[in-house]
Amino acid sequence: MSQHTADQPQTSTLAAATGPDWWRDAVIYQVYPRSFADSNADGMGDLEGVRSRLPYLRDLGVDAVWLSPFYASPQADGGYDVADYRAVDPMFGNLLDADALIRDAHALDLRIIVDLVPNHSSDQYEWFRRALAEGPASPLRERYHFRPGRGADGELPPNDWESIFGGPAWTRTTDPDGTPGDWYLHLFAPEQPDFNWDHPAVGDEFRSILRFWLDMGVDGFRIDVAHGLVKAPGLPDLGSHDQVRLLGNDVMPFFDQDGVHAIYRAWRGILDEYAGERIFVAEAWTPTVERTALYVRPDELHQAFNFQYLSAAWGAAELRDVIDRSLDSMRPVGAPATWVLSNHDVTRHATRFANPPGLGTQIRTAGDRDLGLRRARAATLLMLALPGSAYVYQGEELGLPDVVDLPDEVRQDPSFFRAAGQDGFRDGCRVPIPWTVDGSSYGFGGGGSWLPQPEGWGELSVQAQTGVEGSTLELYRAAFAVRRSHAALGAGDSVVWLDAPADVLAFRRESGGAGFVCTSNTGDSVVRVPVYGDVVLASAEGAVVLADGFAELAPDTTVWWSTASA
Ligand code: GLC
Repeated sequence: MSQHTADQPQTSTLAAATGPDWWRDAVIYQVYPRSFADSNADGMGDLEGVRSRLPYLRDLGVDAVWLSPFYASPQADGGYDVADYRAVDPMFGNLLDADALIRDAHALDLRIIVDLVPNHSSDQYEWFRRALAEGPASPLRERYHFRPGRGADGELPPNDWESIFGGPAWTRTTDPDGTPGDWYLHLFAPEQPDFNWDHPAVGDEFRSILRFWLDMGVDGFRIDVAHGLVKAPGLPDLGSHDQVRLLGNDVMPFFDQDGVHAIYRAWRGILDEYAGERIFVAEAWTPTVERTALYVRPDELHQAFNFQYLSAAWGAAELRDVIDRSLDSMRPVGAPATWVLSNHDVTRHATRFANPPGLGTQIRTAGDRDLGLRRARAATLLMLALPGSAYVYQGEELGLPDVVDLPDEVRQDPSFFRAAGQDGFRDGCRVPIPWTVDGSSYGFGGGGSWLPQPEGWGELSVQAQTGVEGSTLELYRAAFAVRRSHAALGAGDSVVWLDAPADVLAFRRESGGAGFVCTSNTGDSVVRVPVYGDVVLASAEGAVVLADGFAELAPDTTVWWSTASA
């Protein structure tokens, strides 16, 4: 099964140290390698930087680390444009660094999940470079979607699909003789041509890439754009000028096609050949939680991100609804629900909640920062009290806000530079994180940072918050510890809702005979609830005031209670 290339080190496998199905209730920490820690002072984070901070992640109390792409890439989209799937970009290190990282993580009982980008390659990937260079007759063009244009001279794109980043999803090529040629499909940037998954060589290549990283010892894969691989036959027009509104509300000819599931069933077969419990998590944007559940049927993937939860506003009714729908949709397929509030593609939740609801996930205004942080902390405790697996994004444990005032000239998000894209402000959540109060790039590294850090960033640093009672970092640490050991909060597949005032979410969890209640007051006034038991953890100082026979919950807070019996 294992085939090692000459420079590929021997495998390190983490035995099922935390028991079977570790992933069902895991807390998985997302590292965006460019922005986590820089070991060689070039202003860009790297694998050695991540390795040096593994003890921090172990002490924080997470179970696994998901690394955004670190493969060889021209970085047209922060590494989601891969030029060599089996190599580490020199900017991040080399394969030996990846091996050392995996080994050290395992020694600390941390799992490593890597990003797999199968929907598209970089335009610098060998197949695509040759497909262009060899001209229209190149058989390699069949591995992508090349089509003649419409119009008298082929001057119009082959269909009406738009790029997620804005503009047409097609770019016209120039033939080797200098004349305008066919067009190729790219659902994202022009530097990210979409693979044609109907061509057998594409499937063969990705099954081989999976084995390469499994042989390296990784514990799983996050599948980028997992909903996009299969396109409707004939690439039919959408016939609508409102693609942005349709996305996420409907099955599209290029997203969430039923054909993707056969691919994942084949991949699951490969994963299951390997020792240890390794997982797939899908980035699958689908219209409904029910369609997301199709990706995590027992013979497919293990988890899928819950973007409906991420998109929900801070309010009891909406949250209760999405929690119920998430749990109800996963239960029939036996997969754990997942929960996420922030990642590298959306405005950080401390800033989303600082702004009025309804602005979406790309926000340019700071809003009321204190309110945003207060709600973010409450939202985090709520999330961590839910059954299933939780994803946290680097820096949210510091309560970092989005950096909303980056000058346009430093921005690198390709979506920012294309008109009317869906995304566009993703640099604000990618600013390198602060480790120390002072010093060059606040401890990120010795040589500045690829995006400028705001003044005062050091006050939010790991150093500034470590051991400080009430800090956001200590709140996360305490919550992970309770979740893991005290109440097994991630276990199970349901919650029991308790009667509560309109703005309050109150639910009971039962685990190991011990009772547990979580209350979140999402409103702006103090509310009265019963005393459910002993307060285990609260999202803010003064979140709860105990009076004679009742408790008062302060606005925008979450409280964890342990109760005498279930
Ligand atoms: C995913 C990634 C995002 C990237 C896109 C194209 O949505 O999370 O960062 O731009 O795919 O690969």
